[in-house]
Amino acid sequence: MTATPTLEVHLQPEQLREALRKDATIGLTSNPKWLPPKWFYDARGSELYEVITTLPEYYQTRTERALLVAHAAEIVALASPEILVELGSGSSEKTRILLDAARQHGTLHTYVPQDVSVSALEGAAEQIGSEFPNLTVHGVVSDFTDSLHHLPGGGRRTIAFLGGTLGNFEPAERAEFLAGIADVLGAGENLLLGVQLVVDPSILIPAYDDAAGVTAQFNLNVLQVLNTQLGANFSLDAFRHVALWDAENAWIEMRLEATKSMTVRVDALDFEVDFAEGEQMRTEISAKFTPDGIQAELAASGFTVQRAWMDPDDRYALLVVTRN
Ligand code: SAH
Ligand code: AVI
Repeated sequence: MTATPTLEVHLQPEQLREALRKDATIGLTSNPKWLPPKWFYDARGSELYEVITTLPEYYQTRTERALLVAHAAEIVALASPEILVELGSGSSEKTRILLDAARQHGTLHTYVPQDVSVSALEGAAEQIGSEFPNLTVHGVVSDFTDSLHHLPGGGRRTIAFLGGTLGNFEPAERAEFLAGIADVLGAGENLLLGVQLVVDPSILIPAYDDAAGVTAQFNLNVLQVLNTQLGANFSLDAFRHVALWDAENAWIEMRLEATKSMTVRVDALDFEVDFAEGEQMRTEISAKFTPDGIQAELAASGFTVQRAWMDPDDRYALLVVTRN
């Protein structure tokens, strides 16, 4: 029997727009200007991200998938999840590997994909629901920085946070986020975390500046989001995609650079914002970790590392950690 997936929406379109108004007001009036990466993921941005995951230069997704294929059985044996909550689940494409292993293991009854992108979540929940008819699938549309307390209980939980999305936080936000997860989990419950490791910039930079220009489109799409949602009049042709490696902070930074000086009107904010020629606005950081560094951060947040796996090229790590 197939139960229809349910969807719990904590972010209605108007609440999202209000949050975007706030972020755009802060980011566009800061010096240097910046925008939080969560605004990439409207329907088009989520689609572009899926294309990124298939690019030859973007090794991250296929590396994490290979780790999941190799170790899913051990992961579910270690965590014995009854409920799998996945934060920033997107298309849930790799999660199927875990769900398959969990089906064999026999403890899992509920999958809770959570994402800010309603389009990604609806599609994923429906597909998983039909592929795993014995699983209760309950999607949650929310911002994972302020909604962990909404996540359902009713069994031993594992929270999965894959894709390296932890790297999209600033270090202080990251510590707060990990502490928030520790706070909602009970002792003995688990976090399955995928993180991107520090690798040579000659590999990293093309992963964020691919030859086909898909990451550039993904980056520029955030301007289209501002145009559509806030009535801005950004000309996407007047910006170029920039990806650079900040060795000191160990993160990739994506920026949009104005190719000419211009004034952009944002109707919903009732203001105009000036860009100088060559001015860069930060749209994402993507931090890369060392195995010791991430384990120390997790320990400081109240977790014990059960197991960590890395690929043969040491580009990616998957960790099962238990709440103390
Ligand atoms: N986990 C998937 C997708 C990673 S892309 C994978 O491994 O491929 C990052 C995902 O996080 C996107 O689906 C995006 O919509 C979501 N996301 C980004 N910021 C978010 C936020 N603040 N709250 C909830 N979801 C967020
Ligand atoms: C989701 N996140 C971990 C991706 C990353 O690698 O930082 C988003 C992305 N940005 C550009 N390409 C992919």
